[in-house]
Amino acid sequence: MKTIFSGIQPSGVITLGNYIGAMKQFVELQDDYNCYFCIVDQHAITVPQDRLALRKNIRSLAAFYLAVGIDPNKSTLFIQSEVPAHAQAGWILQCIAYIGELERMTQFKDKSAGKEAVSAGLLTYPPLMAADILLYSTDIVPVGEDQKQHIELTRDLAERFNKRYGDIFTIPEARIPKIGARIMSLTDPTKKMSKSDPNQKSYITLLDDAKTIEKKVKSAVTDSEGVIRYDKENKPGVSNLLTIYSILANEPIEQLEERYAGKGYGEFKADVAEVIINTLTPIQEKYYELMESTTLDDILDEGAEKANRVASKMLKKMENAIGLGRKRR
Ligand code: AQP
Repeated sequence: MKTIFSGIQPSGVITLGNYIGAMKQFVELQDDYNCYFCIVDQHAITVPQDRLALRKNIRSLAAFYLAVGIDPNKSTLFIQSEVPAHAQAGWILQCIAYIGELERMTQFKDKSAGKEAVSAGLLTYPPLMAADILLYSTDIVPVGEDQKQHIELTRDLAERFNKRYGDIFTIPEARIPKIGARIMSLTDPTKKMSKSDPNQKSYITLLDDAKTIEKKVKSAVTDSEGVIRYDKENKPGVSNLLTIYSILANEPIEQLEERYAGKGYGEFKADVAEVIINTLTPIQEKYYELMESTTLDDILDEGAEKANRVASKMLKKMENAIGLGRKRR
């Protein structure tokens, strides 16, 4: 069985973008792959986080993974900081990476733009992400489009390491969904929807209630043409809503364009909101149940144990290949 690894940062309540671009794929893949799904809390602290909010978001993300359908009997679910090999392997890979290639990463450029003080961790985020992936001999990394560049860097680092120290790492591949790989902000459809966007109207979280969803979709930026047609360049707002509708209702975009021919944005937006509400309601019910139960901790304990077993073996291989520490007896 091939291995899958993917992670999500507990940097806020996860959005419809995270769900469509990443989580929805995870659920579809878990029957056919050996899956590791991670709450990458060490990545989240590359930008300032409130201590209590971070703890809450970690637990909440664990509950979301399960609520959307991740089955702990099939997949390993764990928290990154509970598996120390990630930070240790991350350091080694930082020593393989070049500053120039890290400075070229779009995420680094976006998140550091206009900031006076930027943490070194924001720059060295990709080698830690490479460690997350490579420790599990991962074949496939299901992600949204924004993470493509980081996976390419992971491949480069793995190849560089293998060339210098011997064939240790599997070279992973990104798996990016054909549609929905980049869900856009509702307030600025030329920008990606992000859970850490300061404007709450720009995203829908998986916990938004029906009224909030209706309001946010109603105020989503579109255009003045009044025609419901997919055209990413000229009609990014309408195209984004069509994409969301199409994926969640499992209906081709062309079919939706036909159905809404001659109809106004008001009716279309009301239906988009309804489809989102219908998707999120059962997820929210399971989520609140899980947040009340103790099973969450049992699942995370088991996940950390398994992940630690696998990751520490790979870390030893890396250290031996480089010559770190002493030769083990
Ligand atoms: N807008 C999006 N559309 C499709 N996929 C998306 N992903 C993120 N935003 C979208 C995918 O979600 C997964 C988890 O992302 P992450 O938490 O590791 O970090 P991110 O990519 O930086 O996501 P956010 O929401 O924008 O977080 P913040 O605001 O903290 O930076 C990844 O697979 C990602 O591709």
